[in-house]
Amino acid sequence: MRKHNFFAGPATLPFEVIQEASAGLLDYKGMGISIAEVSHRSPIFTDLVDEANALVKKFYNLSDDWAVLWLPGGASSQLTVAPMNLTEPQDKIAFVDSGFWAGRAFEAAANEANAFFLDSSKESQYDRIPKISDAQNARYLHVVSNETIDGTQYHQFPEVDAPLVADMTSDFLSRPLPMEKFGVIFASAQKNFGIAGITCVLVNKHVLPEKNSRKIPKIFNYHTHIDENSLYHTIPTYPVYVALLMLRYIDKQGGLTEMQRLSKQKSQLIYQEIDRNPLLTGMVAVEDRSVMNACFRSQTPEMDHKLDLYLVENDIVGIKGFPIKGGFRASIYNGQPLESVIHLVEVLQNFTN
Ligand SMILES: Cc1ncc(COP(=O)(O)O)c(C=O)c1O
Repeated sequence: MRKHNFFAGPATLPFEVIQEASAGLLDYKGMGISIAEVSHRSPIFTDLVDEANALVKKFYNLSDDWAVLWLPGGASSQLTVAPMNLTEPQDKIAFVDSGFWAGRAFEAAANEANAFFLDSSKESQYDRIPKISDAQNARYLHVVSNETIDGTQYHQFPEVDAPLVADMTSDFLSRPLPMEKFGVIFASAQKNFGIAGITCVLVNKHVLPEKNSRKIPKIFNYHTHIDENSLYHTIPTYPVYVALLMLRYIDKQGGLTEMQRLSKQKSQLIYQEIDRNPLLTGMVAVEDRSVMNACFRSQTPEMDHKLDLYLVENDIVGIKGFPIKGGFRASIYNGQPLESVIHLVEVLQNFTN
């Protein structure tokens, strides 16, 4: 029996995707070889990359100004690679101190250029997203579209003169986007569209400088990967395959509009219960609540402990909050079935009764 899996990432995938992924690992399309055993340069694999690129472009309605890249190293490496590619060392990069991942991004970018915070919600334990209307002549504004640990999300992106560079690791492919605002978007796969090992990076070629005064190592230069269609080196081929299966799944469901509808439906069920249940409290401002990671706590750490045991007894796993935050975090990405959310809500109700 599959558990009701609320891990924040790596996270649950639709069972049909897991089944197809495992079949491809054993014998890809009856070819007598595993998809993990073919050259990344063979047409068997390059066709998959082309299909994945085309699906991402279709979902976000991307023109040829945009490149879709598949890179290893996780979003964590993009926190350095993006500023390295987009700025000169004397450039300013604006940040919104919205939570844990904004802090990580700031730390990485400060090694590459002049990173500064426009505003912060640190004093209120990152319970909200500061609203920004001026990027103060920065080369770009870095945003974390969904703060995975803190449980907040941008529902409206800032209106500023600078392009946005977005870490979308925990809400990529979960809703349509105003692409004209963005210069670069990156996301690790293991939350909304696959397993750990691959990062999807969208680069607007107009925002990427042709040349840079600093010498960017070839492997970290976006131009290298744009010129080679992500195949300059051996990318993690199996994670790309699983990502493609997720892209096909999203397409079959009805694309990003449908993903958005489902995310709203799933998160509303949980937030309604948090607001109704006298033992539970939401941890962030209502208007900034994430539809991907719903954070809540009970009345005391002792009660949290009891609730945690009760959830595990009821086949719910991966719902404990991040250690520095405590409480609970229900992660409800694209692969999370509605039935698991309904089950969670029932279990929370039973705990109270
Ligand atoms: C918003 C956000 N950014 C970046 C990361 C780092 O991703 P990775 O560990 O794949 O490098 C995470 C991981 O949880 C995340 O949630």
